[in-house]
Amino acid sequence: MTPEAEWMAVARILVEKWIQADLDRPNPMAERIIEAMRYSVLAGGKRLRPLLVLAAGDYLRVPLESLRLPALALEYIHTYSLIHDDLPAMDNDDLRRGKPTNHKVFGEALAILAGDGLLNEAFLKLSELGVDSEFSSGNVLRALRGLARASGAEGLIAGQTLDLASEHQELSLAGLQTVHGRKTGALFQAACQMPAWLTGNMDAADRLHRFGWHFGLAFQIVDDILNVVGDAAIMGKSTGTDSNLSKATYPRLVGVEASWMMARGHVQSAEEALGPDLDNAQRLLSLLRQAVNRVA
Ligand code: IPE
Ligand code: IPE
Ligand code: MG
Ligand code: MG
Repeated sequence: MTPEAEWMAVARILVEKWIQADLDRPNPMAERIIEAMRYSVLAGGKRLRPLLVLAAGDYLRVPLESLRLPALALEYIHTYSLIHDDLPAMDNDDLRRGKPTNHKVFGEALAILAGDGLLNEAFLKLSELGVDSEFSSGNVLRALRGLARASGAEGLIAGQTLDLASEHQELSLAGLQTVHGRKTGALFQAACQMPAWLTGNMDAADRLHRFGWHFGLAFQIVDDILNVVGDAAIMGKSTGTDSNLSKATYPRLVGVEASWMMARGHVQSAEEALGPDLDNAQRLLSLLRQAVNRVA
């Protein structure tokens, strides 16, 4: 195992442990909502966004343990976005993370509420950093604002809105890049910038902003490709669904081969965004390569 793979395995176990411990709590007010929230978060997933927080932390020499709350926040927002993305009113998917989607098990109303619950939980987690942590309250506020902007109506939610509006439409490549950059890139950018915001390192925030943008685009292009050529059993979600909904995707616009080339182009641009000094960037770069060479 390479040192990067070893680090990733350890970091992934740590993230799982944090998630398990955080969601292992009763909610006497409404047990069922916690059950629905736990169902989707604990169903698995690659935990890429929390790992990005940790790898970006490593890049800036911020200790893993001090990034528990932002790592949880990123995974909760991501999981909320998946629960809502799968709803009948959106992508209408039955399978996620190898299990029936949240609304299939709990019904649509509870799935909406479980998503809402996770979204609020994410900001609660991040705001807890303002109490008794090594980060200044000004920097915690910067991180809260950054995450709210990335996941809000100019970021992820804009992307999801444009994604739905683009069904059965012919988008230009630039238009498609805007959709993917918002629906997926924005949260990747926030994950990467989190340790820079929290330490007030604005030079690094700028580099990580560009790195996250290209990483997110490469990742979403591969997601589009796997929806065409991937194996549903390995991915734990259905394939062929983008074409059924006539979604605007890279393979639909330029074909699978050209999509791979574009994904690789974004990988290169992501690497370049970090600049010439890559001394502490090996873990970030290894996450990038792994995410683009994935089969699930
Ligand atoms: C799926 O994200 C949604 C996209 C933005 C493509 P992931 O592929 O990271 O999903 P999980 O977390 O592993 O389930
Ligand atoms: C998901 O995009 C993006 C968000 C949930 C914000 P997709 O709809 O393309 O992802 P999958 O293929 O369902 O995971
Ligand atoms: Mg979608
Ligand atoms: Mg979807």
